[in-house]
Amino acid sequence: MVSDFIRKKISRYFTGQNEIIFRNNIPSSSLLTEKLSGINELGLYLHIPFCDRICPYCPYNREVYTENQGWNYVNAIKKEINTYASIIGNKTITSFYIGGGTPTTMLKKGIDEIINHIYKHFNMNCNIHMESHPNHLTSENLNILETIGVKHLSIGVEALQDRHLKNLERPYTVMEAKKSIERAVGRNFECVNIDYIFDLPGQTPSEIEQASKDLVNLGIHQAATYPLFKFPYTRLGKEFHEKQNAISTMFRRRKFLKIFEDILYDSDYTRSSVWAFTKKGVDKYCSVTVPLYLGLGASGSSYLKDIFYVNTFSVSEYINAINKGKSPIALSIDLSEEMQMAGWLYWRIYETKFKKSDFKNRFKLSFDDKYGKQMKMLNRMGYLKNGEDQIRLSDKGTYWIHAFEDYFSINYINKLWGNSKSMAWPKKIIL
Ligand SMILES: C[S@@+](CC[C@H](N)C(=O)[O-])C[C@H]1O[C@@H](n2cnc3c(N)ncnc32)[C@H](O)[C@@H]1O
Ligand code: SF4
Repeated sequence: MVSDFIRKKISRYFTGQNEIIFRNNIPSSSLLTEKLSGINELGLYLHIPFCDRICPYCPYNREVYTENQGWNYVNAIKKEINTYASIIGNKTITSFYIGGGTPTTMLKKGIDEIINHIYKHFNMNCNIHMESHPNHLTSENLNILETIGVKHLSIGVEALQDRHLKNLERPYTVMEAKKSIERAVGRNFECVNIDYIFDLPGQTPSEIEQASKDLVNLGIHQAATYPLFKFPYTRLGKEFHEKQNAISTMFRRRKFLKIFEDILYDSDYTRSSVWAFTKKGVDKYCSVTVPLYLGLGASGSSYLKDIFYVNTFSVSEYINAINKGKSPIALSIDLSEEMQMAGWLYWRIYETKFKKSDFKNRFKLSFDDKYGKQMKMLNRMGYLKNGEDQIRLSDKGTYWIHAFEDYFSINYINKLWGNSKSMAWPKKIIL
């Protein structure tokens, strides 16, 4: 209750709104064409909502793959691409990310068709970044990934001790995961990223130390190290009834993250986002890198300056809507200037460094006039370096400012995703 009150107060301070309301207002093609006309750089996100099996902690929109649903999905996505092709015309796409679920579930099962269709209809000028599962990375599948043009590959390894893999119900051993990593690192990808979850039940600092050293020795280009988030609508979230002390959890996570920082910095990696460390000189693996993007597929979300909208989360409803010639968009929200600026700041903080001039270019307003007071205060506290144009977060700032942001976003994501997963076409969702 108290935390809801604080959340609302702070949300009002940054966004000017007490409540953030998503409604079932579906933007028309002509409205989207108009929104896109003023946008120079556009990213593309493609959602593949299939996995071989479901992990108990996973908050994402995914279901178990079946051949029939998989091919229906391929055909529906191609139709969604056709619709957007006439809306975006020749505009250049400068960032392309394929996430899920598990995109590699669809290797040899239509993902190449989707990618070819995208390259045929959109003006693509970027590399492909794709998520994958350790069990899918056979030599044959790595050949396919290279052939379809994946240059940045992420592998969901999650743990490097068998007892934790077992608790997470991951279907492989540490030995098998390491073999997959070795095979991928031995190829010509520009960046191989390993996803690793920490703060697992009973995990010890020495286990984190061993895992960090293993990752370095395996020669990976990047490590993305997330703490285990317990979303209440997941099986693991439901099992964790006991109230966790949020403050002690934050301090424990800080301690664990510090172990990664020390080992990875010592081995020539630099911080590339709140949770990610990239080998110096490597082009980092990351989600869509430009602020504005289109999302394809079930639960794909799009952000076009002053509108954010989300496709239905239901894979069957997504396919049905598209086949009937209807829009798959389920919810949208018009974003005030204040909300856009707060969102911009959130993502730049996530990237740990940014330029004030980029803010000025986007909003035609001086960054210092808008957030100068707060930045000066954070500078005095040692959380960031407030330069003439560049702002760079310190390790302390990176963690604590983001822990503060997470306090809001996890709650918001939980409401938006949790409700969207249980209702295909909600009337409205109030965050
Ligand atoms: C969509 S999965 C990507 C790859 C693939 N599906 C897999 O699991 O191997 C994205 C990543 O999110 C992270 N993740 C999933 N659930 C999480 C949770 N509850 N807390 C923290 N990280 C989580 C995992 O590191 C996972 O690799
Ligand atoms: S963690 Fe990955 S494999 Fe597991 S259910 Fe989520 S998306 Fe699928």
